[in-house]
Amino acid sequence: MTISIALTKGRLEKDTVKILEKIGYGIDELKNKGRKLVFKDNKKDIEYFLVKSKDSITYVEHGVADIGIVGKDTLLESEKEYFEVLDLNLGKCKFIVASLPNNNIYEKVGSLKIGTKYPKVARDYFEKLKMDVEIIKIEGSVELAPILNLCDGIVDIMETGTTLKENGLIVLDSICDISARVIVNKASFKLKSKEIKEFLNDIREEI
Ligand code: PRP
Repeated sequence: MTISIALTKGRLEKDTVKILEKIGYGIDELKNKGRKLVFKDNKKDIEYFLVKSKDSITYVEHGVADIGIVGKDTLLESEKEYFEVLDLNLGKCKFIVASLPNNNIYEKVGSLKIGTKYPKVARDYFEKLKMDVEIIKIEGSVELAPILNLCDGIVDIMETGTTLKENGLIVLDSICDISARVIVNKASFKLKSKEIKEFLNDIREEI
């Protein structure tokens, strides 16, 4: 049976393609992709889609893709209607809390505003600390928000730390580590268990 895999484009794409190449899969089309979005493996009975991380989860949840490769950051924001089966140990970064140096949010009295692309992660974190915060959803370049006074602090991912540093922000706390994970559609896990296990074993040997 053919299996379909939703890959996340962008940051994770290069590393994922590298792993598939190392395990000897036929991903020539993926390497020279142009504007194409669907790719056939020329060695295995596999079809790949290249989509945004949230969409990768959606395709897996709806069974259009049997497997997804997605960052844990996006998975933590999702409803988890899939099986998370493997940590690929790539695309490593961290969830952090940051602010300008003169605005330590843990010491501030009164209402607190937190800007983030990850409202669920931020809400869970501040709930655990029993801190009452207003979450402001931001779609990108989150570091800008405290600089322009839209919020007091941010919850965001940090990889090298360069973006924070170049914008004069400091890390106040680390929330958790993040890396790319393999997720599987719940029904496919049973219906295509042989093919999916074979794929997971190939990848496991490489990582
Ligand atoms: C992420 C994140 C930070 C940056 C961190 O943004 O939101 O802005 O990367 O990386 P660094 O620690 O290596 O500097 P991304 O590049 O995904 O773009 P976006 O802000 O437009 O979402």
